[in-house]
Amino acid sequence: MLSVLSAQAALAIENAHLFLQADLIADLVHEIRTPLTSIGTITYLLQRPELTTDQRISLARTIQREIQRLDDMANNFLDLARLESGRAQMRFEATDPFQILTECLEVIIPKANEAGIAVDLQICDQLPEVELDRDKFKQVILNLLSNAIKYNSARGKIFITQECDQTFFHLAITDTGIGIAKEDLPHLFEKFYRTANSEPAASGTGLGLSICKQIIESHHGSINISSELGVGTTFTINIPIHQPKH
Ligand SMILES: Nc1ncnc2c1ncn2[C@@H]1O[C@H](COP(=O)(O)OP(=O)(O)OP(=O)(O)O)[C@@H](O)[C@H]1O
Ligand SMILES: [Mg+2]
Repeated sequence: MLSVLSAQAALAIENAHLFLQADLIADLVHEIRTPLTSIGTITYLLQRPELTTDQRISLARTIQREIQRLDDMANNFLDLARLESGRAQMRFEATDPFQILTECLEVIIPKANEAGIAVDLQICDQLPEVELDRDKFKQVILNLLSNAIKYNSARGKIFITQECDQTFFHLAITDTGIGIAKEDLPHLFEKFYRTANSEPAASGTGLGLSICKQIIESHHGSINISSELGVGTTFTINIPIHQPKH
């Protein structure tokens, strides 16, 4: 009886899995249509004999951008599918979070400078080491910081603060950017969700925050947003200093 039940349970899990995967694939197919349509239209336009060289170059650049978008989407999508299916193994090790932040800033500061945005990292002594998957945690910070640049205003700022209490490490990333409308906030961690005001500001796949949430939850932590339209946004991450023992 037990073995029949467990076989049925396994089948139900397998079905739920396939169902989720089918959902995910339907979403992806829907999303790749836009760049594909745009590449199709442009290749058609490129065949017009009357185009000037400048016009051709500009159309070719748009194709390049759309291909980059498809490539980003494929990479992010694979990351997310791995995380959602539980196939992504977390490798926790005692880590100095300040060191990870410094490594992220090496990548981010040149981009921030290019956009005229100042980054302020609060120096914080005596933070304990936190059990993290270094690469995955870095991926979270890089996406949050790249959002803070993409959706910032001209000559905007980014503030990074960290603190620890007895059991949790808290990190906050604040920007002085376009902000997020109240009605968008509940949807922000949904796959492919992008707000209407972000589209003209910067391109993106809308998968970064879903990946962040999955990674933070795999660390038994939480991620929260507070934002005001036209003023700025703060993302807060809370991660236990020690991972629960199995
Ligand atoms: N700091 C922010 N300020 C304002 N809006 C933001 C901010 N961060 C995220 N958003 C909104 O949330 C959406 C989802 O963010 P997410 O990082 O998941 O995707 P993305 O930046 O569009 O693309 P990518 O997959 O390349 O990260 C963004 O498109 C934007 O509308
Ligand atoms: Mg992003």
